[in-house]
Amino acid sequence: MVSTASVDDVRILEFPQHGDSRGHLVAIEGAKDIPFEIRRVFYIYGSDGDVVRGQHANRKSDFVLINVCGTCKVRAVDAEGNERVFTLDRPNIGVYLPRMIWKDMYEFSPDCVMLVLSSEHYNSAEYIRSIEEFRN
Ligand code: TYD
Repeated sequence: MVSTASVDDVRILEFPQHGDSRGHLVAIEGAKDIPFEIRRVFYIYGSDGDVVRGQHANRKSDFVLINVCGTCKVRAVDAEGNERVFTLDRPNIGVYLPRMIWKDMYEFSPDCVMLVLSSEHYNSAEYIRSIEEFRN
C-alpha cells in the first residue's frame, strides 16, 4: 500500500540568490534547501509551447522542478482530484512535488530549461502513467 499525498503538500521553494556585480549564483544542498537527499538530476529542454510533459505520478520519487532558464506551468493533482497550478518563472524558485502527486508540465517557453532533482534513481516501474490507475 502506497501512502497518498495532498496538493496542499506541493509548495514553491525559494532559494537564496548570491548575487553581486558579476551575476547570480544559486546553491541547493540535499536535505537542507530541499526536503530530501538528491539521488538523481535530469533536465528537460526543447519542448514546444503546445507540448504537455510529465503526465504521471510516482510511487516512490519526490521531485523539485526548477526552471533555470525560461518559464512553464506545472499542474499538480492529488488522488482526490484536487488541483493546483504553479508558474515557474524565476531561476531561484522550485516546486516541491512529493510522491503520489500527478504532474503535468506545459506552456514551455522556447528557452525553457527545467532542472529536476529527485529523491530516487530512475525506475520506470514506479511510474503511474494512467490517471485512472492513479485515482484508484
Ligand atoms: P519521460 O518520463 O517520458 O519524460 P517526461 O516525464 O519529462 O515527459 O522520459 C523520457 C525518456 O527518458 C524515457 O525514455 C525514459 C527516459 N528517462 C531516463 O532514462 N531516466 C530518467 O531519469 C527519466 C526521468 C527519463
